[in-house]
Amino acid sequence: MQTSAALNRIQPSATLAMTSRVFELKRQGIDVIGLGAGEPDFDTPDFVKEAAIEAIRAGKTKYTNVDGTPELKQAIIAKYGRDNGLAYAENQISVNSGGKHTLFNAFCATIDPGDEVVIPAPYWVSYPDVVEFAGGTPVFIAAGASEGYKIKPAQLEAAITAKTKWVVLNSPSNPTGAAYSAAELKALGEVLERHPHVLIYADDMYEHILYDGFEFATIAQVCPALYERTLTANGVSKAYAMTGWRIGYAGGPAWLIKAMGKLQSQSTSNPSSISQAASVAALNGDQSFLKERVAAFQGRRDLVVSMLNQINGMHCPRPEGAFYVYPEFGQLIGKTTPKGQVIATDEEMVGYLLDEARVAAVHGGAFGFSPALRISYATSEALLTEACGRIQEACAALR
Ligand SMILES: Cc1ncc(COP(=O)(O)O)c(C=O)c1O
Repeated sequence: MQTSAALNRIQPSATLAMTSRVFELKRQGIDVIGLGAGEPDFDTPDFVKEAAIEAIRAGKTKYTNVDGTPELKQAIIAKYGRDNGLAYAENQISVNSGGKHTLFNAFCATIDPGDEVVIPAPYWVSYPDVVEFAGGTPVFIAAGASEGYKIKPAQLEAAITAKTKWVVLNSPSNPTGAAYSAAELKALGEVLERHPHVLIYADDMYEHILYDGFEFATIAQVCPALYERTLTANGVSKAYAMTGWRIGYAGGPAWLIKAMGKLQSQSTSNPSSISQAASVAALNGDQSFLKERVAAFQGRRDLVVSMLNQINGMHCPRPEGAFYVYPEFGQLIGKTTPKGQVIATDEEMVGYLLDEARVAAVHGGAFGFSPALRISYATSEALLTEACGRIQEACAALR
């Protein structure tokens, strides 16, 4: 028996694989600090939980419209208007079972063999795999720490061909935390305006997690000429600490939203009715709790950046948003561990840190940019201090 060619083209998610490894080590009673998972350590706000409980009591436990209840679509429309100055009708909104599902629907509904998708690297692990699953070809644009992990308009221009179906823009970024300003997006948008056959996937999942007063911008807002061919994707997972509830959503052209709904109608059907009710409360409710959480994340970012930059051979840029840092460590490649192992790749570095320092991170190779590590700092300052201390010691022990 054989699995399909489409399945064979993809890899299991490296970030989820590391999360499972950490669960397993912890189950064995090993003191490992997990900095691999991309989820806030905060709990879902109580008012959101209450809305879910109320939905269950009120019998909202049945199938809903395939791509979202009217109540949730209205809450999303209000959110896009309030936060992004974007106007959508209900037939321009798709609600899915998590942000990853939004991506899956959008790409599987539109990509044919031979189509290219331009992806800035480092990238979120799922973009290339979903493109490959759909039969397309990822085309990468590399931007390292010295470029602030942000691509330039000339690079974008050079990457677009007649075969380009989508360009992905993710700001703030997973895995680097880098965010594009309105001016930077406008400059990229001017390139995109010259290529009317290209769709734009704006992944705004970390919109609310920005530091030092950095102002969020999204491309359809900054370049209204691109509104007609941009899918502005978002979700409740990160901002509202609702990763387990599985609700993602997007606003875009009606034809694309309809196509995504058609695919969803034959795969998952509607997202959980209870999670949708909870998401209505999240989006319509008091957003003030976010400020406190973002302030906590900012303190953790500063702690981690400062401790990692104390390591000889490691360079950790200070990101504008999200809850990840992406230190580069080219100078540590080729060094030898106390047990005599030569660290030849970032994957081996991650293995060394897990085995010897008992700290779990994810290797840069998983995000298409090496040698580097992604560290998620969505955990307490005490644990972060301990983890970074262990990484410092492990790196100092390399010869
Ligand atoms: C950039 C980005 N987009 C989308 C998602 C999807 O989030 P979820 O499927 O958990 O809603 C993630 C999750 O890690 C992400 O980092």
